[in-house]
Amino acid sequence: MIVNRQFRLKRRPHGRVERADFDFLESPVPEPAEGQAVARNLYLSLDPTNRIWMTDMEQYMPPVALGEVMRGGGIGRIVASRHPGYKEGDLVSGLLGWQDYCLIGAPGELLPPAVIPDGLPIPLPTLMGACGMTGLTAYFGLTVIGEPKPGETVVVSAAAGAVGSVVGQVAKILGARVVGIAGGRQKCELLVKEFGFDAAVDYKAPDFLAQLAAATPKGVDVNFENVGGTIMEAVVARMNLYSRMPLCGMISTYNEDTAPRYDLRPFLMKRIRLQGFIITDFKDRFIEGSMQLAQWHMEGRLKSRETVVEGLDRAPEALNMLFDGTNIGKLVVRI
Ligand SMILES: NC(=O)c1ccc[n+]([C@@H]2O[C@H](COP(=O)([O-])OP(=O)(O)OC[C@H]3O[C@@H](n4cnc5c(N)ncnc54)[C@H](OP(=O)(O)O)[C@@H]3O)[C@@H](O)[C@H]2O)c1
Repeated sequence: MIVNRQFRLKRRPHGRVERADFDFLESPVPEPAEGQAVARNLYLSLDPTNRIWMTDMEQYMPPVALGEVMRGGGIGRIVASRHPGYKEGDLVSGLLGWQDYCLIGAPGELLPPAVIPDGLPIPLPTLMGACGMTGLTAYFGLTVIGEPKPGETVVVSAAAGAVGSVVGQVAKILGARVVGIAGGRQKCELLVKEFGFDAAVDYKAPDFLAQLAAATPKGVDVNFENVGGTIMEAVVARMNLYSRMPLCGMISTYNEDTAPRYDLRPFLMKRIRLQGFIITDFKDRFIEGSMQLAQWHMEGRLKSRETVVEGLDRAPEALNMLFDGTNIGKLVVRI
């Protein structure tokens, strides 16, 4: 019998995720009924939003229910199909879950996985990162909401991560001056030397505020916000009149049980345009965005880094890497 291993959410975590928050169960691989297909999952995308989905709070999708397979993005290959939209051998991308096999078309499915072109000269982890959902998040959040103009200063937090590293590179392509905020000297060096940022600021250094001021002598025109908390407040304090702030994420808050409170007065005084967004807001433009990112990547203008963890069974501990900062670029699990 071929076995399907699944992480099912057992209890809601408080703080960091623990393995004991899940049951790791084995069951037979499902047989597709009429209108269903089965994908063999190849890569799992680990995202800060996995942690949000574990929490019972108001959010953009229902939280994962207790006992349900942990929700997660992934790439897989169709191994059996009785569904008109999928054929055996298709490569698919979508919410395949923390499991070896995904039954597509099952009751309660939130979004059907999309068939993606096979044989592209782009590795699968990159198709989940710089040329996938995280790349699209960076691209649309920056271009549509941030609207950087040549010569303006763009600041991005969690800059050495999946979204942040693409934000900085796209902002450079668009002619902006780019400053990344990341934890530690090594990551800051990477931002400048590998990703071509103009400057990098280490938020863990005791002189973080002085570094930020030195790196943004003309203030900040676009703050692409990934972190929230005191880092966000430090950047907001340097934002210019009529500047823009795409609010992409607030990772510093996801392990907290209580919501932070912020002073909104600078947004009024400086007429800062703050807009939160979720990548699915741009789903009608995914093909256009993917083509642009793939083109830049193939031209060598958009570099991609991935941190690949081996083995589905390591998913819960690997998720914490996003909160420890031990990932560089896109974090994926090879199943
Ligand atoms: N709105 C959307 O549709 C959407 C889509 C994708 C992602 N996002 C958001 O985008 C942000 C980045 O996601 P990602 O997938 O690209 O993850 P990522 O940046 O690859 O990984 C997270 C990084 O955040 C930093 N970090 C973690 N805890 C922190 C803290 N307390 N203070 C400061 N930095 C911290 C770490 O880097 P350091 O080593 O530098 O600390 C870590 O490497 C997240 O907030 C996520 O929720 C939003």
